[in-house]
Amino acid sequence: MAQGYFVTGTDTGIGKTWTSLALMQYFQQQGKKVVGMKPVAAGCEMVGGQLRNEDALQLQAQSSVDISYELINPYAFPLPVSPHIAARKEGKKIDIANIQQAYLKLEALADVVIVEGVGGWMVPLNEKEDVSHLAEQLNLPIIVVVGMRLGCINQAKLTFSAIERLGLHCEGWIASCVERNMDELDANIKTLEAFSDMPLLATFPYEEERNHKSYKKIVIKTLQP
Ligand SMILES: Nc1ncnc2c1ncn2[C@@H]1O[C@H](COP(=O)(O)OP(=O)(O)O)[C@@H](O)[C@H]1O
Ligand SMILES: [Mg+2]
Repeated sequence: MAQGYFVTGTDTGIGKTWTSLALMQYFQQQGKKVVGMKPVAAGCEMVGGQLRNEDALQLQAQSSVDISYELINPYAFPLPVSPHIAARKEGKKIDIANIQQAYLKLEALADVVIVEGVGGWMVPLNEKEDVSHLAEQLNLPIIVVVGMRLGCINQAKLTFSAIERLGLHCEGWIASCVERNMDELDANIKTLEAFSDMPLLATFPYEEERNHKSYKKIVIKTLQP
């Protein structure tokens, strides 16, 4: 059975996809068969008559084996809004059990499955459930991506606390430098390290464009499948 990781973050647009791709490369360079999953994507384009999401396409392209798009991204919605609203607009409801089934199929095809969440930790998926419920039901170790920018200490502390309150296992967090020059970057990282027992797995420096070798610079201290 494969080892999975659930990648969440402090917000949308803070480096979850970037981190998921780097994690996939990290395990691939260890010789593992890795697949990516983006269970819910709001904000999709029609490609050849099918809804396709940029994150999911990137995860599909990075996967070690050919996987059908529908397995990687079972819920794809056109509108780039909160998933529960995007689903409702299409007359659909996100069912976590369907995501679990797709995950089990992926798990059978790989050594490692990297699951990218949607938005932040408590983004609603339907009227009753949010991303935290999905993570809880998939029961995977969690990796929190902290987008390093003003406000991130508050967002990160809220996210860490919410994960701890549910008693879920967090493997650690990634400092994701999405701004070219963040004031007091190191002091922000040190503040978060002091706040939480969750280990800092890596700091991803700001790069003008994704360097496909950048994962090699990363020292992930504790992460082992
Ligand atoms: N280390 C980095 N350096 C520079 N730009 C980054 C970095 N990480 C992410 N980005 C950029 O920030 C934006 C959001 O990143 P992304 O991984 O798509 O976030 P999310 O998946 O959380 O929405 C993208 O345009 C991405 O290219
Ligand atoms: Mg993303």
